[in-house]
Parts: sequence; structure tokens; C-alpha cells
Amino acid sequence: MSLTWSAKDHKSMTRPAATGQKRSRNDIGNKVAVVLGAQWGDEGKGKVVDLLATDADVVCRCQGGNNAGHTVVVDGKEYDFHLLPSGIINSKSISLIGNGVVIHLPGLFEEGDKNEKKGLKGWEKRLIVSDRAHLVFDFHQVVDGLQETERQAQEGKNIGTTKKGIGPAYSSKAARTGLRVCDLLGDFKDFSMRFKNLVRQYQAMYPALTVDVEDQLKKLKEYSERLRPMVRDGVYYMYEALHGSPKKILVEGANAALLDIDFGTYPFVTSSNCTVGGACTGLGIPPLNIGEVFGVSKAYTTRVGIGAFPTEQLNAIGELLQTRGHEVGVTTGRKRRCGWLDLVIVRYAHMINGFTGIALTKLDILDVVDEIKVGVAYKVNGKRIPHFPANMDVLHEVEVEYETFPGWKTDTSAARKWNDLPAKAQNYIHFIENHIGVPIKWVGVGKSRECMIQMF
Ligand code: GDP
Ligand code: IMO
Ligand code: MG
Repeated sequence: MSLTWSAKDHKSMTRPAATGQKRSRNDIGNKVAVVLGAQWGDEGKGKVVDLLATDADVVCRCQGGNNAGHTVVVDGKEYDFHLLPSGIINSKSISLIGNGVVIHLPGLFEEGDKNEKKGLKGWEKRLIVSDRAHLVFDFHQVVDGLQETERQAQEGKNIGTTKKGIGPAYSSKAARTGLRVCDLLGDFKDFSMRFKNLVRQYQAMYPALTVDVEDQLKKLKEYSERLRPMVRDGVYYMYEALHGSPKKILVEGANAALLDIDFGTYPFVTSSNCTVGGACTGLGIPPLNIGEVFGVSKAYTTRVGIGAFPTEQLNAIGELLQTRGHEVGVTTGRKRRCGWLDLVIVRYAHMINGFTGIALTKLDILDVVDEIKVGVAYKVNGKRIPHFPANMDVLHEVEVEYETFPGWKTDTSAARKWNDLPAKAQNYIHFIENHIGVPIKWVGVGKSRECMIQMF
């Protein structure tokens, strides 16, 4: 079984000479395949990336931070990745953390060391970190917690963030007071001064914030030496990868479309672009180099944290999906909220991302369900709406129109090809494919690598 995405997309052309010679569409270089979450996260992106990464040359993260939690199961061993691209498992590929990612250095090294104990060898030699990536400091994480407390006190509800400092770190970036990897590796005196200023700014906003500045700087200096050998100019590295010899380059999205800062269920979102544009801005990839865009969706829907969830099932079905699906957050250990597959959100994710293929995961979780529902449209005041509502008050009030399917009541976990699936499951998959208007390329029936049926 070939797990490659269309190899013809990866034909490399000669690099244009620096003489200003005109580039045609034929010399755009290698194409990049992007894997993106099509719901509210935890769709199984890590597993899809692992599958594709078996023969990838470069696997990149382009946005988010260690708020992500990607599970990969190989040879019965379960690895959790937060900042490291899931492709780090593949000893033949390079993993790149791009400029759009926000990096908490203690988190990065802790993650690497933890996985090393599980058998992940040589990861530091295979990891490249962009010098333009912004840093998440411990105080960003403390501020994340303080902001959540403040939201709760002021509005009676918080966002339910992962408290990994993501919002505050991207805020510093947007405010142009953030510090990047290149700053840390540059003049440390200058870095220390800017670090102190940043701390002061946050202390002015949050007087309760205490920071042992000297201790933080000492630790950052130590981390910087461990980090230094991995750091490159990420833009130039990507450029060389795109225009050198033919290469398979993969981008691993973190978080998901409905958590996107622009397109998600704002304000109950994360602070980065988790849709396809994030791959360009978070790595310096020209749009013409984007090839396949794979959307990952569960065969039902889950969400961690607060916010509208039209197909949520606060009943026995929701509990069944939660327990059978082991729906517990990888990063925070929180129970995930569960409900029926919502095709309105997957279609919305497709409008933005232009998926070329879908990975439908966790079909096996539905094996015991008598009757399966799928949300196909939203109604407001009894009328179908063609768009996905921006206003969360509207989203809370929408009435979901469902299609109902008979359950197949058969164990699918041993299915390895399309014909092994019961006819009722095939029917369910075909309906989803037709409704989204995107071919389903993979169907997941279990946690491990081999539990992925490839359709074409
Ligand atoms: P990600 O954040 O999108 O990478 O997804 P997570 O790793 O947070 O959550 C997906 C969970 O579902 C993980 O525990 C995976 O091991 C598991 N998983 C992925 N695909 C399948 C599948 O097809 N069937 C089952 N039963 N579990 C799956
Ligand atoms: P992966 O990559 C599920 C959610 C949080 C919270 C909101 C904001 O594993 O799919 P943040 O800490 O980012 O400020 O939290 O976004 N969230 C995720 N939910 N999977 C994720 O990542 C998530 N990353 C962020 O639960 O509701
Ligand atoms: Mg996850």
C-alpha cells in the first residue's frame, strides 16, 4: 500500500537564477502537503501525519504551541507530541518548527526527554527550529491563568484555555514586544533588557504577577545553548527544501479550523491561524507551493473547553462517545465534550481550506450505536442558513437539521480495506463524502498505524 501523496506533485524544477530571470508556473518547486483539523481539534492529525511521514523528507509545524496534543501509536507504543512535529518519529526525516509557532523552551525539552525515555532516539539532531519563532515564557503561562480567572470573574465564564501561555505569547508578538529565538541567541544583554521590559509591561497589567527575573534569565541562557545547534533561518531552509532536489514536505496543522483566530468560534478559539493560510505565513511557503490539503475529521464531533457546540449530546450518546472514544484531552486531561458529526462545520472548514482529501477517523467508535445522526444544516427562525454564523449568540440558538442512518452494529476495528467495511458503514462514509464534496482518502478504525483504510 502506498502511503505517499501524489508523487508527481513533487517534481523539483531548477531554481531561478538570481539574475531576475522570469519564473514560470513550471519552476515553482516542490509541493507541500498540509494536514489540518476540520473540527475543534483532536481529530487524529498526529496519526495522519505519522502515516504520511513514513516517507517524508521534512515535517513542519507552522502555528500553535504546546497547546496541541497529537497522539501517535507505533508498535503498541503511544507517543504524545505537543511542540515536536509528529514526523520526529521517523529517523529519516527532518522536523521543522516554523516561525509561526510559539515555543516554550522548558516544554520543548521536557517533551523531547520524555519521548526519549520511550525510545525516541536522536530527536535533537533531526529537529530544526526557525530563528523567527516567538518564545513563550513561564510568565506568559501564569498570565494565561490570570486572564482565565479574570474572565470568569468579569463575564462569569472563561475560554477554558490549555494555560500554556498561547494567547499571551501571540499577544506579545502582535504588540511587537515579543522575543524570538534569534533574540535569545543574539546579544544576551540586549535580550535580558527586553525580557525585563516585557515582564514590567505584564506586571503593570497584572500586579499579582511575580517573576524571578534573574532566575528566569539564567535558565533561558542554559536553554539557549541546548537550542543553538538546532536553529536555522527557517525561511531559507524552506526555500532550499522547496527548490532543491525532489522532496516530500509535510505540514502538520495544530488545533483546528473552528479554533482559528479569524474563522473559528471567536472568542472561544486559540490565537493562531489553524487554517491553510497558517502554513504559508508560519513557514514562509508561497501559496503556489501548497499541494494537497488534507482535512481530518472524526466520524463524530468533540470539543475541549468552552463555546457553542450545536450537535453536542448531553445524554447517553455523548457519554458513550466519550468513554468508547477515550475522549480525554492529551494536553490537559480534560474530558472532551462529544456529539454527532456536524457537517456544517466540516463544510465551512472546506470553504476556507479547500481540502483535496479527507481523513475520517474513529469510525470504529460508532460500531455499537443503533442509530447515527449527522448534522447537515443549521436553521435560524425556521429557515436554513447557507453560511456558518460569526455571532456566537446565533450559533448557540441554531436548530440543527439531522439525517439519520442505521448503525452497522459490527466491529470494524479489523477492517483494512473498503470491502471489509459493512455496507451500512460504507453508506455512512459515502454520504459524508458527497455532502462535503471532497473525496475521503482514509478511514480510521483504530489507534495504530495499520488501522487506516486507504481508499485511493
Ligand atoms: P490530534 O490532536 O488531532 O492529533 O488528535 P489527538 O491525538 O489529540 O486525539 C485523537 C485520539 O484518537 C488519539 O488518542 C488517537 O490515538 C485516537 N485515534 C486516532 N484515529 C483513531 C481511529 O481511527 N480510531 C480510534 N479508535 N482511535 C483513533
Ligand atoms: P490539537 O492540535 C483541542 C482549545 C482549548 C481552548 C481553546 C483556547 O491537539 O488538536 P489555548 O490554550 O489555545 O489558548 O486554548 O482552544 N484548544 C484545543 N482543543 N485540541 C487542540 O489542539 C487545542 N488547542 C487549543 O481547549 O478551548
Ligand atoms: Mg489533540
